[in-house]
Amino acid sequence: MLLAQITDPHVKANRQLAYGRVDTAALLDSAIQHINAFTPSIDAVIVSGDLTDRGRVEEFAAIRPILDGLAMPWYVVPGNHDQRENFIKAFADHDYLADCADFVQYAVEGYPLRLVGLDTSVAGQPHGFLSRDRLTWLDRCLQDEPRKPTLLFMHHPPFITGIGHMDVQNLLNAQDLFEILDRHAQVRHVACGHVHRASETCINGIALSIAPNSAHAVTLDMEPDGPSTFTMDPPAVRLLRYGDDGNVVTHLSFIGTFDGPHPFFAADGSLVD
Ligand SMILES: [Fe+2]
Repeated sequence: MLLAQITDPHVKANRQLAYGRVDTAALLDSAIQHINAFTPSIDAVIVSGDLTDRGRVEEFAAIRPILDGLAMPWYVVPGNHDQRENFIKAFADHDYLADCADFVQYAVEGYPLRLVGLDTSVAGQPHGFLSRDRLTWLDRCLQDEPRKPTLLFMHHPPFITGIGHMDVQNLLNAQDLFEILDRHAQVRHVACGHVHRASETCINGIALSIAPNSAHAVTLDMEPDGPSTFTMDPPAVRLLRYGDDGNVVTHLSFIGTFDGPHPFFAADGSLVD
């Protein structure tokens, strides 16, 4: 099974540039074309929040037709820039969101890897927090399928990246999440967004990652009081492959045209010298 993760596209209305510079709608469109063209074909796409820049109705109206260009099923969770009410209305036709009201959490069945979307957003706040009712929902959801290999995806990462101005607004109660995950060994991977930069770690035996951005990246600045800035790094998406060996392996797939592929071996089978 092959998944792609798009995160933090920050689309604005009327093709308005984000922060006066970034054509987020066009960059998201490029990411979608890239995913659609990938071979072997990608089975599903997870979109881990900050779909819009300000959470406005007109921004959701702008991103919807772009996401509808995906050739495979796709699943969304909100980020801190998305207003939950507008988010739910924008995707009201997505069956998996049918039971979501106070928070957007659901499980997607039918794939070799069970996909569980979590809602870490707090209205009006940049940081993430999983309230007691969301944690209880997760605990029960994982109890329902204890033997089904599972991937969680959510906006705010439950780990420190070293980028100070982002770390203060990650998932503030990560320990509460890990206490639940301790009881559910079927969780193979936790895929996050929010930091606009690829990052990976392992906590209590669970692999966690943040997807790269297909638009603007948060500057890689690990100075303790580094400012909040962005850079236009090469755009990329994260791919997550769930293999017959039961492992989730991730790759970065850069968007664009690059020199190659070039063969290592000549027609006679010898290594090109
Ligand atoms: Fe974001």
